[in-house]
Amino acid sequence: MSFDVNAIRDQFPILQRQVHGKPLVYFDNAASVQKPQKVIDCINHTLTQSYANVHRGLHTLSNEVTERYEQARKTCARYLGADEDEIIFTMGGTDAINLVSYSWGMENIGEGDEIILSLMEHHSNIVPWHFLRERKGAVLKWLKVDDNGAIDMNQYQSLLSDKTRLVAITGLSNVLGAAPDIKAMAALAHGAGAKILVDGCQKSVHGAVDVKALGADFYVLTGHKIYGPSGIGALYGKREILQDMTPFRGGGEMIDCVTQDIVTYNDPPHRFEAGTPPIMEAIAMGTALEWMMAQDIEGLQTHEKALTDYAMGKLSGLNWISLQGKGQEGKGPIVSFTMEGAHPHDVATIIDQMGVAVRAGHHCCQPLMQHLGVDSTVRASFAAYNTEQEIDIFIEALMKARNILS
Ligand SMILES: Cc1ncc(COP(=O)(O)O)c(C=O)c1O
Repeated sequence: MSFDVNAIRDQFPILQRQVHGKPLVYFDNAASVQKPQKVIDCINHTLTQSYANVHRGLHTLSNEVTERYEQARKTCARYLGADEDEIIFTMGGTDAINLVSYSWGMENIGEGDEIILSLMEHHSNIVPWHFLRERKGAVLKWLKVDDNGAIDMNQYQSLLSDKTRLVAITGLSNVLGAAPDIKAMAALAHGAGAKILVDGCQKSVHGAVDVKALGADFYVLTGHKIYGPSGIGALYGKREILQDMTPFRGGGEMIDCVTQDIVTYNDPPHRFEAGTPPIMEAIAMGTALEWMMAQDIEGLQTHEKALTDYAMGKLSGLNWISLQGKGQEGKGPIVSFTMEGAHPHDVATIIDQMGVAVRAGHHCCQPLMQHLGVDSTVRASFAAYNTEQEIDIFIEALMKARNILS
């Protein structure tokens, strides 16, 4: 098996469409990726042939769909190197982190307890910890990052203490593409008696993960960035931690027994999946993960790195572009920059007229923007199906935008 970008592109029908009369160049992958035919077929098949509610019925369709839903959990466990009872389906990355904040944090974090998080976290991995600051008196301790997103491990060690309860850290920055050394950070967190939550929403997109080797206590992924649908994600939690956690949402499926006086709870992971789950979405995320695992992952990573290097090389040659993050070991395929004298929103709007889709804004990372001294950036992020030719079109589009805006 070898990586063939044209064979990959053929599997993504949306890449055939035009935008403003130009071929689509989709570089907004860190926001959400496009879906391969296999995932689209799975959604179609589920809704037209194999749909019912899960875990409830005694009829063929319900049994069939329950089997497929639980199969998706097994696939997700395989992708993350976990056991299936350690995988909770959530409504996405944000939902997974909120689950930890409510179910684990509300009970394990009190007045004066400390949570360490980095300045490059997405708001999804900041605001749920602010809730604990506001509601439980927790103290947030901020890990600085340099211009490339590198973490100062000395500062990290100096922040860790017997007051630290949790380290909440991204696996890959959605702005700078920087990838912290999670294994080293987890070992140090555990040495201080703290737990570590890894926001893997960006990192997990670029290859399977081994949560046990990393030493993560919690690991989060999201379906819509990993070639699957939106409205679905997964939370990995170590079995012994999940077993001690009380549920955050109450309702059907998560109980063992309900009477007028008491309620007892189901075992994990079902304890944390109240109500009818995103059934089709979970099954399709399983298909997306199967699709990923069937690819030449090394080839894919080499391809994405080559695209990133190519784009960084081209952008560095333009003296009216300022790159945010010049790159570091393990950088993901995400490039952020500003254009001299132009607002990022204007740049994105103009290049959209040439068929190029990028993201512009603060990328849900306001503390990082404040740290970098910018309000917003333009972000181009690459996926398996992108090509160097598309980067050439993007650079040409930027040059035209520069002429219009200067
Ligand atoms: C690093 C990171 N964490 C969390 C999220 C939120 O994930 P979701 O959209 O599934 O809620 C995102 C989405 O942009 C992200 O980039």
